[in-house]
Amino acid sequence: MSDTSFTRALTARAAEIETYLEQVLGSVALPGETMRPERLMAAIRHGVLNGGKRFRPFLVLETARLFGAAEGQALPAAAALECVHCYSLIHDDLPAMDDDDMRRGQPTVHRAYDEAAAILAGDSLLTFAFDLVSGRDNGLPGDIRAELANRLARAAGFGGMAGGQALDLAAAEQKPDADGIVTLQAMKTGALIRFACEAGALVAGAGDEDVARMRSFGEIIGLAFQLADDLLDVTQTPTAMGKATGKDADAGKATLVSLRGEDWARGELGRLVGSAEALLAPFGAKGTVLAEAARFVADRQS
Ligand code: IPE
Ligand code: IPE
Ligand code: MG
Ligand code: MG
Ligand code: MG
Repeated sequence: MSDTSFTRALTARAAEIETYLEQVLGSVALPGETMRPERLMAAIRHGVLNGGKRFRPFLVLETARLFGAAEGQALPAAAALECVHCYSLIHDDLPAMDDDDMRRGQPTVHRAYDEAAAILAGDSLLTFAFDLVSGRDNGLPGDIRAELANRLARAAGFGGMAGGQALDLAAAEQKPDADGIVTLQAMKTGALIRFACEAGALVAGAGDEDVARMRSFGEIIGLAFQLADDLLDVTQTPTAMGKATGKDADAGKATLVSLRGEDWARGELGRLVGSAEALLAPFGAKGTVLAEAARFVADRQS
């Protein structure tokens, strides 16, 4: 990646979130917990502290910053979202789902440990995300904590990510058309990315109109993110991606790339970036990092 304000911000935010996650996923039990089993915590750390891009927490932190949040104010929400994302990857890789051996360049959690550990690591991370957003000790006002928990539940659950994963698994048999694929992608990947952008605005106390604008921005880059993932699944090597490629075709899974071709996908990514940038126009120069983030989503090579 070339050195831009976006890449510098991504590096800085990834380091912040990494430090925070290391702290909260330690071995010491919180008040109300009995103890943290060593092997389960090791499996969790394997699935989280393993070099992800941290793009979703980056979006939370940068959106919060756009609306004037104080330093550190958005970290619990950002970490919560990364916990949900990592849980979704740990379960996505299980034999009953995509059956993958490599994630982020390392053995998947069920390979490094076992399937039960991977299932329980995912369960624990999903639950812990709600601890992070709802806990009184995160410093946010009660109404914002409740709103974050509610929106995260809707983004992650049967009407969001988990529902999208169910549609995705059924896609090999059911062969959805392009509209069906857009819906399933907006759920399996788009919902968490959309939540990232609305959560950042909410944490900073932005008004309803700004929260809705950032929600739309998140929806658009969420679609672009999965379209790019499907393109990279066709064009990239496992080494570059740190995970298997060619999976969608092998699974007989139609994607927008297989239906409409790589050239169309690149054109569509350009159109989505244009719409995302237009939503940031009212913020002028303050929106530059997020506009660059939208371009990164479309142009990324891993
Ligand atoms: C991978 O997400 C799963 C999809 C939703 C396509 P990322 O590409 O953000 O994966 P990490 O977190 O950087 O490993
Ligand atoms: C995964 O989509 C989306 C979620 C984990 C919710 P993919 O199955 O395409 O993701 P990769 O390619 O394994 O990262
Ligand atoms: Mg999958
Ligand atoms: Mg997968
Ligand atoms: Mg994929």
